[in-house]
Amino acid sequence: MNYNLNSLPAGESRSSTWSGVKSLLKLVEQERKTLIIALCAVLLNAFLNLLGPFLIGHTIDKYILTKQYHGVLVFSGILLAMYVTAFVSSYFQTKLMGGLGQRIIFELRNSIFNKIQQLPLAFFNENKAGDLISRVNNDTDKLSQFFSQALMQFISNIVIMTGAGIFLVVINPELGLAALVPAAFILIFTKVVSPWIKKKNALNLKSTGAMSAEIQESLNNFKVIIAFNRRDYFRQRFHQANQDNYKTAIGAGLANNIFLPVFGFFSSIAQLTVLSFGVYLITKGYFTIGLLVSYLSYATNFYNPLRQLAALWTSFQLALAGWDRISQILSLNNNLVTIGYDDTVNPTNAVLEFRNVHFGYPGGYEILHNISFAMEQGKTYALVGPTGGGKTTTASLMARLYDPLEGTILLKGKDIRTYSPEERAEKIGFILQEPFLFTGTVRENILYSNALYRKFSNEQFIKVLQEAKLEGLLNTFDKGLDTEILSGGDSLSIGQKQLIAFMRAVLRKPELLILDEATANIDTITEQLLGQILSNLPKETTLVVIAHRLNTIENADEIFFINSGEVTRAGSFKEAVDRLMHGKRLS
Ligand SMILES: Nc1ncnc2c1ncn2[C@@H]1O[C@H](COP(=O)(O)OP(=O)(O)O)[C@@H](O)[C@H]1O
Ligand SMILES: [Mg+2]
Repeated sequence: MNYNLNSLPAGESRSSTWSGVKSLLKLVEQERKTLIIALCAVLLNAFLNLLGPFLIGHTIDKYILTKQYHGVLVFSGILLAMYVTAFVSSYFQTKLMGGLGQRIIFELRNSIFNKIQQLPLAFFNENKAGDLISRVNNDTDKLSQFFSQALMQFISNIVIMTGAGIFLVVINPELGLAALVPAAFILIFTKVVSPWIKKKNALNLKSTGAMSAEIQESLNNFKVIIAFNRRDYFRQRFHQANQDNYKTAIGAGLANNIFLPVFGFFSSIAQLTVLSFGVYLITKGYFTIGLLVSYLSYATNFYNPLRQLAALWTSFQLALAGWDRISQILSLNNNLVTIGYDDTVNPTNAVLEFRNVHFGYPGGYEILHNISFAMEQGKTYALVGPTGGGKTTTASLMARLYDPLEGTILLKGKDIRTYSPEERAEKIGFILQEPFLFTGTVRENILYSNALYRKFSNEQFIKVLQEAKLEGLLNTFDKGLDTEILSGGDSLSIGQKQLIAFMRAVLRKPELLILDEATANIDTITEQLLGQILSNLPKETTLVVIAHRLNTIENADEIFFINSGEVTRAGSFKEAVDRLMHGKRLS
């Protein structure tokens, strides 16, 4: 599955307007009741709006021209009552739809976020956090705006327009048709330019995402930026992103506003036609003044909504472009599915086995070529080799952060894909090369994904740590378990972070514990402490250690060399040293 959200060319509308509308409507299925009530309010409003001009024309012809002012008063009263009712119904409709828009944004943000949480690592490798944030924040907002403001106005305008159009034709077919001809031009124009407008808006949303990604990257890397005094570099990149955004925004703005003058022009033409043709008809005696006033009013009632529809159409196109970007995320699936038991593979006794495994990162070269090895329960294995050789990649496959392109990985004799994510997480502990911590306390971070001890008091929990011989590691934190970790671990050294990750993994007593250079940033004394803790683990625990220092791999039962995507068994430490002496260098 292609997880790169931006690999689709910008603005290539994957869906037509109509299928976009259909999928948008699915979003509001549960809101049917609100929609129906709001719709009734809108229809009432539209009906009152349409009735107005008719009554005015009637008043002019029947009462004003005949000077029956009593009737004028009565009709003025009726009109006032109508306008007040229209105002109230419009208020309720706005209130209902505003709430609906907010509920939609709430639900959408939830479902995007949940979806993102289910996606595999490959998705996060291929997309920038800033762009994802922009999709969750900005694009959903475009949709909410559409639902809270535009949708009902859209319907209301269409109803008023259709009603006015019918009145125009019914009152006088010839004059009506003459009044409606300019609208046909507008429709054709709209049809022609809509894809272009949508494309411009999609480009704009994309560049907003890119700018957000740029900001996020420089905020994440501010230490490097300041240390290397390369503010200019990021300033320049930001400037570029900002400029792109500015340009696409201008493009989108122009596209969005192109309707207004065109609509205005055709609407004026229509008014002019009605006026001149109408006056001509009056002189011929086919038409009354009151009728002409109503008529002009209906022409306005036809063209004004049309002009507003132009603006709403823009909001609609924007919502569609945002929806495209959102549904791109929602349509992704985790390709690391759990499969049923696969009995084509012969089970083995090995705790972990690679069989003819090939692997490459999405869109990249093959990194691991035809790898086969087995690891036995209770033993310690060391993976060594030059930087970039594929150690972390091999370890990631062991924990099923990715699936191999070819070949099988067996965990305890069963295809690793047959384990549910929970089972896998329980069996495998993985201490990443760059541990990730959350803002919170040391205790909260150690107990992340560990429900067993979460309810323990600090004293009880320290006892647990003592039993696991982990307590000594807490000395590095000035307030012990309650030490606050700020901004995702920035307040700690990498070594300290690794210690927390270490405690987190060891406390869960996994059957397979993978340490990816977990001791690289830890002093030798603490490292000895870690060594003791590891030797204190249950005998059945299988350890996979990726390390550079010789003393860490000295105790390994077996060493694997990983270089250029090949994994070679190097036997015990002594045999490995012999190999090393013959020209192979540990990096
Ligand atoms: N997320 C990734 N996407 C694409 N390529 C990657 C990714 N991670 C690592 N690589 C590439 O895979 C190769 C092996 O990397 P890695 O397994 O991290 O090596 P090691 O841990 O031995 O230093 C390198 O060429 C690296 O550039
Ligand atoms: Mg590595």
